[in-house]
Amino acid sequence: MTFLSATLDRVKPSPTVALTGKVAALKAEGKDIIGLGAGEPDFDTPQNIKDAAVVAIALGKTKYTAVDGIAELKQAIVDKFKRDNDLEYTTAQVTVASGGKQILYNALMATLNEGDEVVIPAPYWVSYPDMVLLAGGTPVIAEASLQTGFKLTADQLEAAITDKTKWLIFNSPSNPTGAGYTREELKEITDVLMRHPQVHVMSDDMYEHLVYDGFEFCTPAQVEPCLYDRTLTVNGVSKAYSMTGWRIGYAAGPEELIKAMRKVQSQSTSNPCSISQYAALEALNGTQEFIEPNNELFKRRRDLVVDMLNAAEGIACPVPDGAFYVYPSIAGCIGKTSAGGAKIVDDAAFSNALLEETGVAVVFGAAFGLSPNFRVSYATSDEALKEACTRIQTFCAGLK
Ligand SMILES: Cc1ncc(COP(=O)(O)O)c(C=O)c1O
Repeated sequence: MTFLSATLDRVKPSPTVALTGKVAALKAEGKDIIGLGAGEPDFDTPQNIKDAAVVAIALGKTKYTAVDGIAELKQAIVDKFKRDNDLEYTTAQVTVASGGKQILYNALMATLNEGDEVVIPAPYWVSYPDMVLLAGGTPVIAEASLQTGFKLTADQLEAAITDKTKWLIFNSPSNPTGAGYTREELKEITDVLMRHPQVHVMSDDMYEHLVYDGFEFCTPAQVEPCLYDRTLTVNGVSKAYSMTGWRIGYAAGPEELIKAMRKVQSQSTSNPCSISQYAALEALNGTQEFIEPNNELFKRRRDLVVDMLNAAEGIACPVPDGAFYVYPSIAGCIGKTSAGGAKIVDDAAFSNALLEETGVAVVFGAAFGLSPNFRVSYATSDEALKEACTRIQTFCAGLK
């Protein structure tokens, strides 16, 4: 009998977390490292949200709460879905967990049986396939391409669906590409789903508010109301409100599913942090006025990074609609040798050599299921971005 669960053999540790560890170790050795791997805004949590948490502590809101969220927060979430997405839910259709990550995990744990398939468009957020495996399901990767702006086409989705498909995990704007589906593009996806009544949609809308150039965000249940009963609409406060450490995510969907997710949570973590729930309440009900200036800053940084990367030899970097990532292709670098003598056989080799030879840390594309690419997070200062992109340009110029 082995001590560790066999389930873990199917799962790999998060490559983005591994990179963070490597960067910290190199920095501790005194190396001059610029980390472009962060999956969080570099802004502080807004003061009104922090103040709400302090008040919650002073008022003694420090005990267990209802398993999947306090009533006031659930009402604020109902109001948010109505206000931002024109979606009508009751509080019984809403659940709150310790981050969007736990919401996704609860939903998969609550629904997957062995043999159930989950369609995941690639490039994908690193956790989706492994979460599906942990929950006993089978991830089915549907590859999108650079040519379609990393967005899945109707035909690609159709080809990935079988009679065993239980979920499609949909993420727009996307981590890692920043690609956002327009209403028309999303309608093509939902039209496919209308032909397959066994398929449910988990829409990961974490980056809803981080969109640029007038991009209009939309979510599947809004674009195709007939999918309302088959959709779990997932969101959270981590990204738009710079609250990654507070750990609050939420979702709305069919009551039966929400109840099942509550059951999973009740026997694992119980309620998300009570103080964070009051902070999230202020995030959703309080002023939203910092989002626009934050987005202006993000857009400026996006443009800076896209321009500088496109000026690097062998790199092609599309302009994303949202989030704070770019996902350039390094097809033009493959097969070459770096100035330090590294053979660039794939994107992992590229990222390793880049880190070793220039001190710039990026996440290689294979981690997100589509190569040869790498992900840059531009949630860092203009100075760091300029210096990092200059080093990338020099590195690429040195490839022979
Ligand atoms: C696409 C996507 N979904 C979900 C999450 C999880 O967010 P949270 O911090 O709320 O768990 C992330 C975080 O990086 C993400 O990028």
